[in-house]
Amino acid sequence: MQVASIVPSSKVLIDRVAGKFDFSVPRIIAEFGPGEGCHTREIIKRMHPGSRLLLFELDPELANHLRHHFRDDARVSVLNTDAANLPKELTSLGIQHCDYVVSGIPFSTMEINKKRLLLQRIFESLAPNAQSAFIIYQVTNELRGHAKIFPRITSEYCLQNIPPMFVTVFFRQGLNGFSHGGNGNGNGNGNGNGRH
Ligand SMILES: C[S@@+](CC[C@H](N)C(=O)[O-])C[C@H]1O[C@@H](n2cnc3c(N)ncnc32)[C@H](O)[C@@H]1O
Repeated sequence: MQVASIVPSSKVLIDRVAGKFDFSVPRIIAEFGPGEGCHTREIIKRMHPGSRLLLFELDPELANHLRHHFRDDARVSVLNTDAANLPKELTSLGIQHCDYVVSGIPFSTMEINKKRLLLQRIFESLAPNAQSAFIIYQVTNELRGHAKIFPRITSEYCLQNIPPMFVTVFFRQGLNGFSHGGNGNGNGNGNGNGRH
């Protein structure tokens, strides 16, 4: 239930996900559920040298593996904790907002209240600007239906992965800078079905 997959993401999926970031300037990025680090390595390869990458991995063995693997990169912090602790961890690191949250954790099997709470915390942790976004790769696109707090959502389907996955980007702000302001009742365009 926690890992939800026995096959790591494919190179095509990894490239599609990494292509959603603007790495041209330093960014603060949180990754949820990096596993053995296949997306992490690509993000590190592409990110600006002044960036920070915070890895939230619940599994202690995987967290230790990640610590060992990225031990020489001071920009990377491995946090063996639940993704829901994002705001708390940002505060303890003296960071006000992050620019991107990318997630490989299995949202579809998560209890509904936990899912909503996590979406709210992600929204509040993202910097209020046009680029900042929550990026997920998931077998289903059901999260769109729960993420109406985000004013702009785009999705595409990546067939070249086992299993095929939706790559969905939830932007913190709309194209005109519009934001719902965090009450969770906005009527953004995320209807759970469409692709953009
Ligand atoms: C499907 S694996 C994804 C692995 C890798 N990112 C990939 O694409 O191949 C999901 C990972 O999320 C971790 N995980 C699940 N729930 C979590 C949570 N609430 N907070 C942090 N990590 C979590 C699991 O331990 C597992 O490593």
